[in-house]
Amino acid sequence: MSLILKAANNILAHSAQIVFKNHGIDISNPDIHIFPGFADVHVHLREPGFSFKETVKTGSRAAAAGGYAAVCTMPNLDPVPDSVEHLKKQLDIIERDACISVLPFGAITVGEKGETLSDMEGMSPYVVGFSDDGRGVADADVMRRAMEKAKSLNKIISAHCEDMTLVNGGYIHAGAYARAHGHTGIPSSSEWRQIERDIELAAATGCAYHVCHVSAKESVELIRQAKRSGVDITCETAPHYLTLTENDLKEDGRFKMNPPLRTPDDRDALIEALRDGTVDMIATDHAPHTREEKSRGLRGSAMGIVGLETAFPVLYTRLVKTGKITLERLVEAMSDAPAKRFKIDISGCFSAFDLSKSYRIDPEKFESMGRATPFEGDIVYGKRLLTVYKGETV
Ligand code: DOR
Repeated sequence: MSLILKAANNILAHSAQIVFKNHGIDISNPDIHIFPGFADVHVHLREPGFSFKETVKTGSRAAAAGGYAAVCTMPNLDPVPDSVEHLKKQLDIIERDACISVLPFGAITVGEKGETLSDMEGMSPYVVGFSDDGRGVADADVMRRAMEKAKSLNKIISAHCEDMTLVNGGYIHAGAYARAHGHTGIPSSSEWRQIERDIELAAATGCAYHVCHVSAKESVELIRQAKRSGVDITCETAPHYLTLTENDLKEDGRFKMNPPLRTPDDRDALIEALRDGTVDMIATDHAPHTREEKSRGLRGSAMGIVGLETAFPVLYTRLVKTGKITLERLVEAMSDAPAKRFKIDISGCFSAFDLSKSYRIDPEKFESMGRATPFEGDIVYGKRLLTVYKGETV
């Protein structure tokens, strides 16, 4: 059995042992590892508003299938959770249908339009933090006021950093693949320029600030420097940015997400940053769309891929088994680090994986309604055997 959980909490390890014994799982088998419940601070569960893509029920089941005990949902919904009334619709669905902790982000601005601040104060008791994920907050003054408000409420801002004036109609990385295949590229500057701006605002306001889905090496360096100078900043990256690059692109919508897959240098900088702690945590940016929406190639497909059911096995196979990061660091980045930063309670939550078991990723077997993943067909190691949420098997 993995030492990770044993070291983390002996009592939990003991209760875990009983649960696993009851399920016929032989924990004396050295290949079977018990981990603390994972926490994903960036998912799209699409309800209310887009239940044809995913629901809280299917999304939370997908999370449990991936070993997650908690997920934080992004507010690009309909209605956008920008008031208590709108948020209540989402909370009611979560209360009814979620099988693990589903913790919503409130929007930073009304309708995620980037203009008027949402009712941050009213929503504050019910949300994990504030985000306008899906788009960047273009107006620096709006972001400054949002940070001041978040600071006064003791809440975190989780920022999707994207300067739309630099995106220029792009939809994959502005690099060799885009040039060779006649696609319009998204430059890395559209990400790091807004991070650069926000770091100044976070330094000035003292707000707890978190950067979503970091994909570019320049962003990594800015965040590294900001941490050194004492800014209250953390960040996440996603499994695909740590394992794939533009060299893996195919003319297929399952390779399309925002931000896009970038270069091997960017990927390597992210792995190094995960190792040295500049990248604090791993979040999936699980973003399900319908089969039809993902069937229009790189140019026409919707942005976003699913990730909850593949994150651990993909990262274990590609980063841990190859010696790029340790198993302890991977598990920390998927559970302890997000739980601490976002104050998520994962006590009494754990999962068991058999790290010797390999299988082929088959999206048709997903609990998620989303099927688009660049990892389709990959052989991965790390089969989940069980997820326990607050003492109950889910
Ligand atoms: O790929 C993405 N999909 N990036 C985003 O920022 C939004 C997300 C979505 O909601 O589908």
